[in-house]
Amino acid sequence: MSLLPETIDSEEMLDDVISEPSEELTGLCAGWKGMTAILGIGGKMGLHMGMMLAKAGERSGSSSDITGISRFSDPAAREKIETRGVRTISADLMDPDAVAGLPDADRIVYMVGRKFGTDGSEWLTWAVNTLIPEAVCRRYAGTPIVAYSTGAVYDRVPVNSGGAKESSPLTPLGEYANSAVGRERIFDYMSEKTGTPVCLVRLFYSIDLRYGVLRDIGDKVAADEPIDLNMGYVNVIWQGDAINQSLLAFPHCSVPPRPLNITGPEIVSIQYVAEKFGEMLGRKPRFTGEPANDALLGDSGAAVELFGPPEVSLDRMIIWIAEWIRAGGRSLNKPAHYEVRNGKY
Ligand SMILES: NC(=O)c1ccc[n+]([C@@H]2O[C@H](COP(=O)([O-])OP(=O)(O)OC[C@H]3O[C@@H](n4cnc5c(N)ncnc54)[C@H](OP(=O)(O)O)[C@@H]3O)[C@@H](O)[C@H]2O)c1
Repeated sequence: MSLLPETIDSEEMLDDVISEPSEELTGLCAGWKGMTAILGIGGKMGLHMGMMLAKAGERSGSSSDITGISRFSDPAAREKIETRGVRTISADLMDPDAVAGLPDADRIVYMVGRKFGTDGSEWLTWAVNTLIPEAVCRRYAGTPIVAYSTGAVYDRVPVNSGGAKESSPLTPLGEYANSAVGRERIFDYMSEKTGTPVCLVRLFYSIDLRYGVLRDIGDKVAADEPIDLNMGYVNVIWQGDAINQSLLAFPHCSVPPRPLNITGPEIVSIQYVAEKFGEMLGRKPRFTGEPANDALLGDSGAAVELFGPPEVSLDRMIIWIAEWIRAGGRSLNKPAHYEVRNGKY
């Protein structure tokens, strides 16, 4: 992404801005042959993952092609993905026969996950987050996999600690977060057993204008709803930077898997964000609670060393989202629930 626009005026423009590959990524893709499979492409990040790969492939003149695999619970998502140069296959990856029947691939982006709805259906979350990695590593033994994990694998850390490092203990609270640790541990086991190189992307809060922590706060400020300050700090990253860095992680896939925190470099104060939205939307934000001295935070130093800092700044994201909200821009209505402190999603 070289020239960032002042405002983003349409969903088409938004999808284009998010999916803009860096020169480094285009350079990496130039050496790629064969097929990249994106598993779980039907979610909030999948379209942009497919689009970024398609653009980088086209610009680099590489002969690699892209296949997106999901159940496509939202058929509109499939249609949109197909118009962007990504072939699709509908498959339920909980079905071992469906996994066995998937086409060969040369690299895998693993985006499958289940979080919301865990409370009361813990068994399903555990099954999705741990059984599918086993089946996928068996089917694609030896094929590099960049697998999305989550920053939620860590416990909360003191706000002044700079965030959890990749070497920090994986002892989080709650069944969703523990199933995400389970997902990583199955990748660890299957990587070792099948010689499959893996990079585990511990992502902290991806930001789109239609969903994400910043949109949630902006919506509350606009609606004059109180903002809970108890989880007082978060890390966020522009969805385009998150996807770009995740793809640049392919050369860092290894046996045993390499974990990598991917997020923004700053520890973001919820109060600061709300006040910024307040200035831009002409509202005075209302708050409840006090910031605790610990929060779910990650140190992205290792990723910054590998890939450099994210291109889109926090203030740029806030400006884009405030304008988007002011213009009545669409929301996915999928709150991030960043304020949850008891581990129940
Ligand atoms: N977005 C974030 O801020 C964030 C933060 C931390 C971690 N992550 C992780 O990064 C990954 C991608 O994020 P996302 O926001 O795009 O997640 P998402 O919206 O939850 O998408 C994951 C997709 O996986 C697919 N899936 C689930 N079960 C499946 C099954 N049995 N067979 C085939 N596909 C299945 C679903 O699409 P279908 O209904 O089409 O099957 C689902 O939409 C996820 O693992 C997520 O947990 C995301």
